Amino acid sequence: MRTITTVAEMTAARDAAAGSVGLVPTMGFLHEGHLSLVRDARAGCDTVAVSIFVNPAQFGPGEDLDRYPRDEERDLALLRDEGVDLVFMPPPEEVYPPGFGDWVEVRGPIADRLEGEHRPGHFRGVATVVARLFRIVRPDRAYFGEKDAQQLRVIRRLMRDLGLPVDVVGRPIVREPDGLAMSSRNAYLSPDDRARALSLSRSLAEAEQSVREGERDASYIREAARRTLDAAGVGVDYVSVADENTLEELETIDRPALLLLAVRVGATRLIDNTLLVP
Ligand code: PAF
Repeated sequence: MRTITTVAEMTAARDAAAGSVGLVPTMGFLHEGHLSLVRDARAGCDTVAVSIFVNPAQFGPGEDLDRYPRDEERDLALLRDEGVDLVFMPPPEEVYPPGFGDWVEVRGPIADRLEGEHRPGHFRGVATVVARLFRIVRPDRAYFGEKDAQQLRVIRRLMRDLGLPVDVVGRPIVREPDGLAMSSRNAYLSPDDRARALSLSRSLAEAEQSVREGERDASYIREAARRTLDAAGVGVDYVSVADENTLEELETIDRPALLLLAVRVGATRLIDNTLLVP
């Protein structure tokens, strides 16, 4: 496994890579969710590259950029065990050289609502870094988790709009045995916060059950989820039942819909989602 920190070296390594290249973009502090993406890439591609870059551009003022969890040594050991070929760990000035101005912005309901509304500038940062990583690594395939469902859709839109020839693969959420969706930010949770955070997966499971039993009223699903979250004492940023492709809010669940949640548990912001299939 080669660890690479410069764009020049990554470009050369990509030129020399044989066969198909799979990229798993990450911000490090890896968990089973990331590793499941790495395993998919390993199974589907000849060369596997993982990027580890805590992207300053996708954090807003007052967000957790400075305290975002990092453990480079552990990440590298995990990736070595998974048979990864290339790890790209650039410093910020390699990704954003002085005078950088090549910002990428996806607009429309797919990017402006939900995370876009609550974290202004977030998707501009994500879209820009992903476009930049794709130009540097030139993967044939790139792997992202469904936990960031809106991010995945923004990236797919970006590929379409820029005409980038990357196959964007979305993979299911990986959960802890008690249902909590894996996230690097779970490291922030105190035992009490962690117990309250289970209200996310509980709300999702209740909604799935309601839809299985025939409920089609999106307002009912939103209100029930909000009640479960409120009862756990978490701060709700949004509860949305949206068309799974366009992310437009639905009144009736007459097609596959995403139930998307964003909450604050103490100082930690968590998101989760599930697909509701009528
Ligand atoms: O999902 C993440 O970890 C990040 O948003 C990504 C896609 C690596 C871009 O920084």
